Amino acid sequence: MRILITAGPTREFIDDVRFLSNASTGRMGCALARTALAKGHHVILVHGPIACEPPRCEKTIPVTSAEDMLDAVTANIADADAAIMAAAVADYRPAERIPGKIKKQQGGQSLRLDTTPDIAATVGLDKGERVHVGFALEASDGRRNALAKLRAKNFDLIVLNSPAAIGADLTDAELLYASGESEILSNVAKDQLAERIVTELETLKEKKGTCDGAR
Ligand code: C5P
Repeated sequence: MRILITAGPTREFIDDVRFLSNASTGRMGCALARTALAKGHHVILVHGPIACEPPRCEKTIPVTSAEDMLDAVTANIADADAAIMAAAVADYRPAERIPGKIKKQQGGQSLRLDTTPDIAATVGLDKGERVHVGFALEASDGRRNALAKLRAKNFDLIVLNSPAAIGADLTDAELLYASGESEILSNVAKDQLAERIVTELETLKEKKGTCDGAR
């Protein structure tokens, strides 16, 4: 299979030196890419600024903002049999980017924010025979929110975890399928979780029945 993987955070610049972002390290996305490669798949890795060395993939596309990530994903998704959306895309971006460096002022400053494009939802609209896997990091009401995202973004499988997963070696996760099935995984290493997700992806793709993959 050819698998497109998104990884890491995005950066949304306020001016030329400041940006909005989040604490994602990209480790989960890199672990997924390594596992997929080890299982004989081709990988297109689209990643934001990450704290880990990405493995050597068929194609590696470093990006900065959500808009850049959307462009890279839409340009490459048609070549993929499956996609894993592991990126922690920033939800908001400044309504405008100020050239140079904004001067510090006495008192507060306010920042007008726009929402960023939803990459998974955009490419989920017309996914054909592709299998799409997503992630949901939820602080509360996890199951309900993750299931809403599974439907809204047309995922076949969504991996639910909590903010404790950020930067952690071991994590708890729940796999929630579009079919209605679910499974809880406790205290798993990110490499083990990656192995499990890629295996589930292979099974889901086999069920769809049109894989012309490399394996
Ligand atoms: O809505 P939320 O950000 O929690 O959704 C998480 C899932 O959607 C992840 O798989 C993430 O990679 C993807 N996503 C995206 N584009 C966005 C926001 C999230 O692809 N703008």
